[in-house]
Amino acid sequence: MSSPVDTVHILGAGSIGLMLAAHLSRVVPVTLIRRPGMTTPELRFRFREGNNETIVTLPQQTTETLDAAIERVIVCTKAQDALAAVESVADYLTEGSGLLLMQNGMGSQEAIVDRFPGLSIHAASSTEGAYREPPDTVVHAGRGITRIGGLTGKAFDWTALFQTAGLDAEQVEQIEWHLGNKLRINCLINPLTVLYDCRNGELLAIPAALEQMRRLGTEADAVLAAAGFTFSEPAFDVARQVARATANNRSSMLQDASAGRALELDYMTGYLLALAERCGVSAEEHRAVYQQITKQV
Ligand SMILES: NC(=O)c1ccc[n+]([C@@H]2O[C@H](COP(=O)([O-])OP(=O)(O)OC[C@H]3O[C@@H](n4cnc5c(N)ncnc54)[C@H](OP(=O)(O)O)[C@@H]3O)[C@@H](O)[C@H]2O)c1
Repeated sequence: MSSPVDTVHILGAGSIGLMLAAHLSRVVPVTLIRRPGMTTPELRFRFREGNNETIVTLPQQTTETLDAAIERVIVCTKAQDALAAVESVADYLTEGSGLLLMQNGMGSQEAIVDRFPGLSIHAASSTEGAYREPPDTVVHAGRGITRIGGLTGKAFDWTALFQTAGLDAEQVEQIEWHLGNKLRINCLINPLTVLYDCRNGELLAIPAALEQMRRLGTEADAVLAAAGFTFSEPAFDVARQVARATANNRSSMLQDASAGRALELDYMTGYLLALAERCGVSAEEHRAVYQQITKQV
């Protein structure tokens, strides 16, 4: 098996996958990997950022049509789909293959490292914002920064690739710390937007939600401290800043809940609960939120 040296595969052609594909394809050949059954050899979509709209056309393949080793792949599925998606292309991964995992939350990265210990695996924690507008538009709604760090295997310079494509990216030593930092904020905002059915900023104006956010923050910080993570600011303070800065956003969890799609809850609140249990720390407020949401959706 051989592969064009610089091709980057994108596994999961959703919001973040197509946003990255649109930018990276300006500097490197990009091929999308779709679910089996997809028949067209190319995907054409509108890509909008601010007032700028372009048409992007990219080759796409499935596990049925792949015929060469994958050198570099960016995994852009939701957390609950990530391991199965990587397993679906396992026949095309070799010792030299490099994976970059874009998932929010924690747990999916560990599962992939456990299953594929011989690969070069990096994880990202990104504050980029992208969404899809039916029928065929991908919107890069907000510029952010993508922090990238190695989990296992040899180093791969993903950061340089992102930067060459004009994306803000930073190589970090402890990506687990960044994932943990984002996890605690996600656990304070996303589930509450589902329970209160509101935009991020509206949480700040609902006294009961704000109080609950404070209690969730205290618990999240205690759990993460017991697991060895230290942060300079309490989760509650950071979550309030984030909710204010993204006041008009409907969180991805709220969007998924409204559309009847699976939630990333097990990789956010669920992961925190598992960590709490492992560390012997109480997380009753998070448990109540988890149970309420799983009953509701
Ligand atoms: N969107 C953002 O702004 C953003 C920012 C930072 C981080 N993230 C994180 O990035 C991840 C992806 O988010 P997203 O918003 O891009 O989700 P999304 O729009 O739902 O995209 C996920 C894509 O993965 C595809 N997929 C799932 N299983 C697959 C498989 N086995 N083979 C091929 N494709 C598969 C899905 O296809 P189907 O449609 O066929 O299911 C879907 O197109 C999440 O963990 C999210 O938290 C997102």
